[in-house]
Amino acid sequence: MGVADLADYPWDAVAPFAERARRHPAGIVDLSIGSPVDPTPDVVAAALAAATDAHAYPQTMGTPALREAIVGWYARRRGVPGLTPAHVLPTVGSKELVALLPLLLGLGPGDVVVHPRAAYPTYEVGARLVGAEPVASDDPSDWPDNTRLVWINSPGNPDGRVLSTTELTNAVTRARSLGAVLASDECYAELGWDAPWDAEGVPSVLDPSVVGDDLTDVLSVYSLSKQSNLAGYRAAFLAGDPQLVARLLTGRKHLGLMPPAPVQRAMTVALGDDAHVQEQRARYARRRAVLKPAVEAAGFRIDRSEGGLYLWATEGLDAWESVERLANLGILVGPGHFYGTHFPQHVRFSLTATDERIEAAAERLTP
Ligand SMILES: Cc1ncc(COP(=O)(O)O)c(C=O)c1O
Repeated sequence: MGVADLADYPWDAVAPFAERARRHPAGIVDLSIGSPVDPTPDVVAAALAAATDAHAYPQTMGTPALREAIVGWYARRRGVPGLTPAHVLPTVGSKELVALLPLLLGLGPGDVVVHPRAAYPTYEVGARLVGAEPVASDDPSDWPDNTRLVWINSPGNPDGRVLSTTELTNAVTRARSLGAVLASDECYAELGWDAPWDAEGVPSVLDPSVVGDDLTDVLSVYSLSKQSNLAGYRAAFLAGDPQLVARLLTGRKHLGLMPPAPVQRAMTVALGDDAHVQEQRARYARRRAVLKPAVEAAGFRIDRSEGGLYLWATEGLDAWESVERLANLGILVGPGHFYGTHFPQHVRFSLTATDERIEAAAERLTP
């Protein structure tokens, strides 16, 4: 299996419904893709603009200032003290890291990559790319003996599920007993909505109450795309086991996976500025407060969705029927079929639309 064997990009199947939604007299409300719509914060854009003289190759491992900023962010925002620059690594986007991690870890045929049952599709793509077997499972006791990499995702895409410290600990313990790397994709961590996550924050896998002081084979994977409206910058990073980080750094150096220097500067500034993240969080909280009751009023049950950027909802019909019904209202959503085989009756509503479009969706949904 190689890149040429990957399936057609699934979003092409949504195109006819997008076409239908576009015919709505007041225009389409596109809630299908989680792409940020709010501007990149001025403070971050200014940092990028001030760093355009980038004549030298950037460092794959990141500048000292960036690595310190990542360390400081984990201590300040994620309750993870005690990291050092050797524990962290910037990455060119998070999707790219997710797709390449099995390759960078040297996985191949005969190895299993576990990912959530409702999952961001790139976990499976990365496994297939190297000929490993993807297995969808949320129950650590079901993870096969030949598991070499486990992806967990909290808050989850598409289901907004938040994992407690107990669930994180169980995942780490089981992965270690199998000799597998545990990678926790935490890119929506600043967006915890329901109690207790709104007040306590969403726990990181690197939280001392999960891993103690032993980070062996554990990684936290993060992205600034959502919290800082930087999806176009491809600004992301990981942290965890320093031996594993060193191995990944070596592989990434050979592959030329260097985060661009101006982006490294912008990331450093973004990670030092919590104010813009709080503003963005407040925007999504408002949109969620408008959309959630409207989705329920339209006859959907919302499952999980305790955190993150999505409402994971079902009206008891096949997801394509729900996609069609919503497209007739001029609203485009993603079908559960895109996130594995376990949730064929769920659809994903994204909160990444302007206030005006979210209000338009709410009006159309409310009977
Ligand atoms: C769970 C999850 N992981 C990773 C990513 C990728 O983020 P990035 O923009 O850094 O590639 C996304 C983006 O939607 C995501 O939902």
